[in-house]
Amino acid sequence: MNTQIIKEILKLKEEKNVVILAHYYVPDEVQDIADYIGDSYYLAKIAKSCEADTIVFCGVRFMGESAKILNPEKKILMPDLTADCPMAHMVSLREIEDMRNKYDDLAVVCYINSTAQLKASSDVCVTSSNAISIVKSLPNNNIFFIPDKNLGKFIADNVPEKNIILNDGCCPIHAAIYASEVMEEKANHPNALVLAHPECEADVLAIADYIGSTSGIISYAKTSTSDEFIICTEDGVEFKLRSDSPNKKFYFTKTRPSCSNMKLNTLEKVLHVLQTEENEVVLSKEMRESALAPLEKMLELGK
Ligand code: 13P
Ligand code: SF4
Repeated sequence: MNTQIIKEILKLKEEKNVVILAHYYVPDEVQDIADYIGDSYYLAKIAKSCEADTIVFCGVRFMGESAKILNPEKKILMPDLTADCPMAHMVSLREIEDMRNKYDDLAVVCYINSTAQLKASSDVCVTSSNAISIVKSLPNNNIFFIPDKNLGKFIADNVPEKNIILNDGCCPIHAAIYASEVMEEKANHPNALVLAHPECEADVLAIADYIGSTSGIISYAKTSTSDEFIICTEDGVEFKLRSDSPNKKFYFTKTRPSCSNMKLNTLEKVLHVLQTEENEVVLSKEMRESALAPLEKMLELGK
């Protein structure tokens, strides 16, 4: 069954000059047919630089929207437009406005995991792979970091010279990676290194041997001389971890971190959007234009 779907996908994507992008959290079989797989930053850069007229973006809504904002002339299709990141909505425009009124020298730094509207109200976007260096490079002393308090706290720890104001949002999947369960894995596998995404809670980050984005975790595991790892991020990364290092061992916590929104990306839906060109990401011109500057600033400062 899958073989036939895959054959059709590969044929149509060739015929229609479509590039398929997939985040590391989508199901294995979807990562397998993608032209590019990567973390949020890499995918945003590829969406901008690839030559295709149409991109099928296998991820969640904010990723498709960012691709559209950066490439208004390209058609961005998503296998499932309802695949949304709950954290992307966890701050209000009112809170941003209040913070701007409260502080003179303030930069609103927006994690890319946010709605287009929130991006439009921010000064610069970041992803987990460039957040520290971008925040460091800003001239402002006061930084309102939205929406993720855990990534915000991680930045604050690494950029102590700035006043990082945190917002009360988080990723429910990473927040359910409990330090107690990480410790259980450590007890079972005493030689395993703990590799954690900065969306994890502070008590998990405190016991991590390495903290980084999904691609950071993947390249750390690949190049490390260790061969056992406890992975503290969404379980879709296991596909790339295993294909890069088939002889290494990867463990996840008992409450397996799985993002139901990312898992909405199926091969059947990829084929459907290739056939019908439905599920196009549409944003008003006004919204696209006002959310463009913070994304472009990220690409510029992230170089
Ligand atoms: P990165 O792949 O950029 O590390 O982001 C993880 C994430 O939460 C995407 O939803
Ligand atoms: Fe959002 Fe968390 Fe899912 Fe990433 S893993 S899309 S941050 S809910």
